[in-house]
Amino acid sequence: MFTYDAETKTAFTCDFLGEHYCESRIWDDKILYPEKFASAFRHYYDCIFGPFKPYVLEGLKKLEALDITTVAPSHGVILRGRLREAEENYRLWSTPAKKPPKKRMIIAYASAYGYTGMMARTAGEAAEKCGLDVELLDISVSPADEIAAKINEADAVMIGSNTINRDAVKPVWDILSLLSGINNQKKPAGAFGSFGWSGEAVGMIKDRLHSLRFKFVGDGLRTAFRPDKAALEAVAEYAVQVAGAIDG
Ligand SMILES: Cc1cc2nc3c(=O)[nH]c(=O)nc-3n(C[C@H](O)[C@H](O)[C@H](O)COP(=O)(O)O)c2cc1C
Repeated sequence: MFTYDAETKTAFTCDFLGEHYCESRIWDDKILYPEKFASAFRHYYDCIFGPFKPYVLEGLKKLEALDITTVAPSHGVILRGRLREAEENYRLWSTPAKKPPKKRMIIAYASAYGYTGMMARTAGEAAEKCGLDVELLDISVSPADEIAAKINEADAVMIGSNTINRDAVKPVWDILSLLSGINNQKKPAGAFGSFGWSGEAVGMIKDRLHSLRFKFVGDGLRTAFRPDKAALEAVAEYAVQVAGAIDG
């Protein structure tokens, strides 16, 4: 909700265009550490407005319709000199990136001995044969926040984990904890993994994705130790099912 004071041409925008940032100067054209301000501005946008991009664009339209020279959010710097730049950044960050022509699937996996990795590669090849643009990400190599951001933007996701000590491994949980429950609703998802004797990881991934409201396909796919030919065929078939759950 915004409040507008026509006399001073000031919009009071609550969280909008704000950030958690404080230094001795409160006007944007007087601040001493513009890089720190810019970083706080971006971070606040990502955390608070990232899931609500269409509403950000609507908010910008409301401001555009008024004669505004100053924006005073509830917290952070008061904007006047950098106001247009701040608005442009919000517009840029909120405008959907042009979607690649192909639908995109992220397959992120953790594998100590390579068996879950074998399943991941087989799933990727099968999804590619369905016409998807597939990116395979080894969780031990790519940073969790980058993987989560890619999943948040993708059309479908498959997550693989081995089972270690009756659990999915920590890097997998790190990613699961970073996924948005808002952006990913109804996004097709699957889970797979190699296990030894109890195999809890796949069910745990399924439960987490389900609670985030992904469209989880089936029960996930588990293989005891090294996947044989039949197990790899089952993974390929499962990947085709996940790919087929993408709308349009
Ligand atoms: C330290 C350790 C703990 C394990 N704990 C479990 C477990 O609790 N339950 C289970 O089903 N398998 C367990 N396993 C077996 C692995 O899940 C199994 O070796 C699996 O094939 C590894 O897959 P990967 O090659 O993708 O890492 C454990 C293996 C190790 C080395």
